Amino acid sequence: MKFFVDTAEVKDIRELHEAGLVDGVTTNPSLIAKSGRNIKEVIKEICDVTPGPVSAEVASLEYDGMVAEGEVLAKIASNVVVKLPLTLNGLKATKHFKEAGIKTNVTLCFSANQALLAAKAGATYISPFIGRLDDINLDGMELIENIRTIYDNYQFETQILAASIRNANHVTQAALAGADVATIPPDVIRKLANHPLTNSGIEGFLKDWKGTGQSIL
Ligand code: E4P
Repeated sequence: MKFFVDTAEVKDIRELHEAGLVDGVTTNPSLIAKSGRNIKEVIKEICDVTPGPVSAEVASLEYDGMVAEGEVLAKIASNVVVKLPLTLNGLKATKHFKEAGIKTNVTLCFSANQALLAAKAGATYISPFIGRLDDINLDGMELIENIRTIYDNYQFETQILAASIRNANHVTQAALAGADVATIPPDVIRKLANHPLTNSGIEGFLKDWKGTGQSIL
């Protein structure tokens, strides 16, 4: 499973990229607002850090506006993926960008039928929002499993990008359900490395090592 980082904070992306943990990046209007930066500047800087796909989201709800904004975003760098909402206009724009050879990420997917429509429109990625479904007592992971089955049934090439991931368990479950990609907040990626037995193991080994009085260097 590929790891995308779900943030517009370049410092976090750079740090995780250096650790080999960044296959791509996703942003959304809320993350851009949180960064306090201009969307074009920050997307360009992210694309300079990672060669992987970088999703940049349109703000328009109208087809013409989505196409115009998506074209501006796609020109920022060759690895920009145009992110579009799962509406009929968004699907129409997805088809437009597919025909223009520009990659798309169809976002705010909350049902298997929506995912089916995105695949038929030619989306590169579909983003089912796990955490937001869990928030309202529905099963986000069941949605990933259902989309996996549907896409495999018909050999759709659209990649399942598990989004709205809130914790380490979501990452494991998305991998088990067969998501192609998980987009994960930086802090959750860092937490994936944590295990109390790793920490106590290191402590024990270092204590015994000090007792030998040896030095490797
Ligand atoms: C990514 O593409 C989504 O915009 C993001 O994962 C949403 O996460 P949230 O539900 O925690 O805001």
